[in-house]
Amino acid sequence: MRRKIVAANWKMNLDIIEAAEWLGEVGAQVHEGSCEVLVFPSFVMITDLMDMYQGEHIVFGAQNCSHKESGAYTGEVSATQLASIGIEYVIIGHSERREYFSETNEMLREKMEVAIKSGLTPVFCCGEPLQVRNENKQKEFVKQQLEETLFGFSGAAVAEMIIAYEPVWAIGTGLNATAQQAQEMHAFIRHEIAGKYSLDIAAQVSIIYGGSCKPDNAKELFNCADVDGGLIGGASLNANDFLAIIKVASL
Ligand code: PGA
Repeated sequence: MRRKIVAANWKMNLDIIEAAEWLGEVGAQVHEGSCEVLVFPSFVMITDLMDMYQGEHIVFGAQNCSHKESGAYTGEVSATQLASIGIEYVIIGHSERREYFSETNEMLREKMEVAIKSGLTPVFCCGEPLQVRNENKQKEFVKQQLEETLFGFSGAAVAEMIIAYEPVWAIGTGLNATAQQAQEMHAFIRHEIAGKYSLDIAAQVSIIYGGSCKPDNAKELFNCADVDGGLIGGASLNANDFLAIIKVASL
């Protein structure tokens, strides 16, 4: 269902003490009228944080899951294991996983499959690198990511998931996409989903933006017609900055 979402992707940052402090500060200020707030900590601390949090308005997710269902894959964490501890969301296809861990569109399709089968909601990340943007081929690039990973799933599954458009050149660089660039790509993604499935499915899917989103640019980005919130990396590590972004999305 389409809604306003602000998600914290902590990546490999914060230890349990810092995370608990953050949760105390953010948890105290996220309430019923807030947008949907998702937090993606490292695997090792998710259950501790879920136990610590007494409220109902922050939902926890995982940053990754294995593309295999179970078995001899040392160091991996399966979607079923995540679901079994009460996790509802999983990020799939983040550009750092694609780049540093060689995750391909095909492997991501397998991850989506096990995640959906386990009852998790995927936050599917897509977005083009700088060179592709410079060649003005970003739409073709993102279209291929959608086709090879997403478009084998049912319309009902796609309507439920969250898509994060994260141009690689904007991630962690301080150089965010302009509102116009974000809106253009979000509208394109929705258009492609409408073409593959239906207008109704396209209207239901939440498409959030990620890449150097901060308190001072969130309003401009979230005001775009097809931008349903943000996936926040760097600025999510600071409780006050993250709260400021939540406030913008909750207006
Ligand atoms: P950033 O990261 O906000 O630090 O650019 C966003 C992301 O990688 O999800």
